[in-house]
Amino acid sequence: MSEGLEGVVATETKLSRVDGAAGRLIVAGHDIEELAGHWRLSEVAALLWSTADGQSWNADRVSEGLGLARVYANSLVPRFLSVTEGASPVEALRTGWSLLKDSEPEAENLDVSLLLSGAAPVFLAAHYRHMQGMSLIAPNPDRDHAEDYLAMLGLDHTPVPARAFERYLITVADHGTNASTFTSRVVASTLAGEISSVVAALCALKGPLHGGAPGPVLDMFDEIGGMQNIVPWIEHELDGGSRLMGFGHRVYRTCDPRADILKGIVGSLDQSTDRMQFAEALERAVLDALAAKYPNRRLDTNVEYYTALVLDGVGLPRELFTPAFAMGRVFGWCAHIKEQVAGGRLIRPSSRYTGTLPEGAVALQMAG
Ligand code: ACO
Repeated sequence: MSEGLEGVVATETKLSRVDGAAGRLIVAGHDIEELAGHWRLSEVAALLWSTADGQSWNADRVSEGLGLARVYANSLVPRFLSVTEGASPVEALRTGWSLLKDSEPEAENLDVSLLLSGAAPVFLAAHYRHMQGMSLIAPNPDRDHAEDYLAMLGLDHTPVPARAFERYLITVADHGTNASTFTSRVVASTLAGEISSVVAALCALKGPLHGGAPGPVLDMFDEIGGMQNIVPWIEHELDGGSRLMGFGHRVYRTCDPRADILKGIVGSLDQSTDRMQFAEALERAVLDALAAKYPNRRLDTNVEYYTALVLDGVGLPRELFTPAFAMGRVFGWCAHIKEQVAGGRLIRPSSRYTGTLPEGAVALQMAG
């Protein structure tokens, strides 16, 4: 029995390949470094969706569709805000996406993938500003997707932070059958529809063992406080059995390539040198401590560690870190849902029964 399905090949996909031994991520035939370095988000979305459903998605059409979807989602904001009072940002996004319908007659015939991807920043920005008692800022369909999110939040959306955030979204857009993507495929395999599949995926992403780690990474920085506290703090946490946020991965047995990309993006931002030196010193000390504690299981820096610094550097408050991950990953979820529906079969694994048997029953190997 493979705990947590580790190493189990659950499906075939043309969308991404995570090579855990080499620390390499290939997305639809391209190294992630190439996509994050040189491509636009709309081009990556078109690549993923075309690969998934065999239709020729065009980057300009995606960009235009995302703009239209943001405007459409904005028309739902009053209703959305009336039912998300007091919710966390992820809970609000979950509710916002649930307000959408698989067939949305007023949405100018927008594809559901565009609708979901375009609606995310609108719901998140509206909810955040509303909760802060600030006036709402409407989307501008002529802006790039990443830039418009920063603008709707009232943040600096000039080219440097806007491009840094766009590169972040590309970096996390797809990553094999991680927990949330696998969830999206399970739900899609029942033909429940794209919206339900994406909502389910978001629920899986929300947990701290998956997409919920980058906020706690910054909390960890705050808790440690200064360089002199790093070593005793790590010893205390590991002795107490805690998991250190931003380290370890189910698949990578070497550095997560996305961590390197994000570290480079941090360098393009106006992050204080002290912050960066602290982050690097903490990273080194954690890696040493984990190597000493788990000599047979290499645990390295994962995507969430430098995500925290990138998102902090573009000005996002930490409660919007996990939703930002969802804003990027939704492009991958939609691709996997399309691929699953196009060629997949109902996903329904078996389990080994280890409970008690009714009196008199012979010891059967029951699967069910
Ligand atoms: N800090 C301390 N110990 C750890 C860490 C860590 N970050 N990661 C793993 N370990 C320990 C485990 O507790 C386990 O110890 P045990 O054998 O005494 O029980 C041992 O190392 C082996 O763990 P793995 O099998 O490698 O862990 P698994 O594959 O089940 O979990 C996970 C992977 C969830 C990412 C884990 O490394 C973790 O909890 N990391 C911290 C949270 C985090 O950064 N999450 C974001 C992941 S990236 C993403 O999803 C986008």
